[in-house]
Amino acid sequence: MKILAINYSQSGQLNDIVNNFISKIEGCEIDRINIAPEKSFAFPWPTDNFYDIMPETVLEEAIPLKPITFKEEKYDLIILGYQPWFLSPSMPTAALLQNKEFKQRINGAKIITVIGARNMWLNAQTSVVEQIVASGGDMVGNVALVDRAPNHLSAISIAHWMMTGKKTRKWGIFPLPGIADNDIENMKDLSIFLNRCVAANDFSTFQKTIVENKVTRINTNILFIEGKAKKIFNIWAGIIKKKEKSGGKRSFWISFFRYYLNFALFVVAPILLLIDIILIRPFTLGKIKRKKEYFLYLGMSR
Ligand SMILES: Cc1cc2nc3c(=O)[nH]c(=O)nc-3n(C[C@H](O)[C@H](O)[C@H](O)COP(=O)(O)O)c2cc1C
Repeated sequence: MKILAINYSQSGQLNDIVNNFISKIEGCEIDRINIAPEKSFAFPWPTDNFYDIMPETVLEEAIPLKPITFKEEKYDLIILGYQPWFLSPSMPTAALLQNKEFKQRINGAKIITVIGARNMWLNAQTSVVEQIVASGGDMVGNVALVDRAPNHLSAISIAHWMMTGKKTRKWGIFPLPGIADNDIENMKDLSIFLNRCVAANDFSTFQKTIVENKVTRINTNILFIEGKAKKIFNIWAGIIKKKEKSGGKRSFWISFFRYYLNFALFVVAPILLLIDIILIRPFTLGKIKRKKEYFLYLGMSR
């Protein structure tokens, strides 16, 4: 079986996840590719840069990537690792999904997506899967690793990591940012299962096993937030691009978005969540379960 494992990673976290995931595959040729944008994103992120990429990320504009050399014309299995940025595929991933040579290789291949996120990947995966399916790929799995800390704490932790470059506890008290070392290490065990699927060329139970073992799981509060937030991001992206085109100062509108985002995350979302938990959720448990199933098996036949 010919396998391609491809991803971008800024801090190296997703590289470790993907490397562990393929570490126990035996008797196959694995083409391991790390993609990179032609013009790299500064890491740690200067605060302004971090928010400044929101509109183009949300609109999935393709940035130039460094040339990619694929070893094969066709692969049986493609392991596509990616990280969400602003509820969308990261800019290098968006560019890869629009790359003609990559799209040709997706066509007819089985695809497993491997996500290394903070905790919000549902909207990004919707877009990624749409593009995979449009290119003729056959989705067979989605392994989504997320930060285990509560949403508000992990938002503060990850901002500390992204803007200092240090994967440490902010002020010594916040939870460690990013995906737990244990979860990254456990990808080696998952690789044993992947190796069995590869050897048998049978992925029919792959995602069921992933879901049953809670490797990929969906938190109800996150489901709720993601159900609303992407629409708002799209509106913001549109406004900022329009203002810029008509001579408005981009940096002003980006700062405006930054304050809005923090207000929405730390003030509005908790209030809406509380209302939802008390008044709506008890009566919509069936719908929530169906939604989770939908996202857990996005693009996959069952
Ligand atoms: C600009 C930016 C936006 C991000 N937006 C999200 C997001 O919407 N949802 C999420 O779960 N994680 C988000 N993250 C976290 C990333 O998905 C990822 O976990 C982190 O950047 C580490 O990935 P790396 O392997 O590229 O270093 C964001 C990170 C960056 C830099």
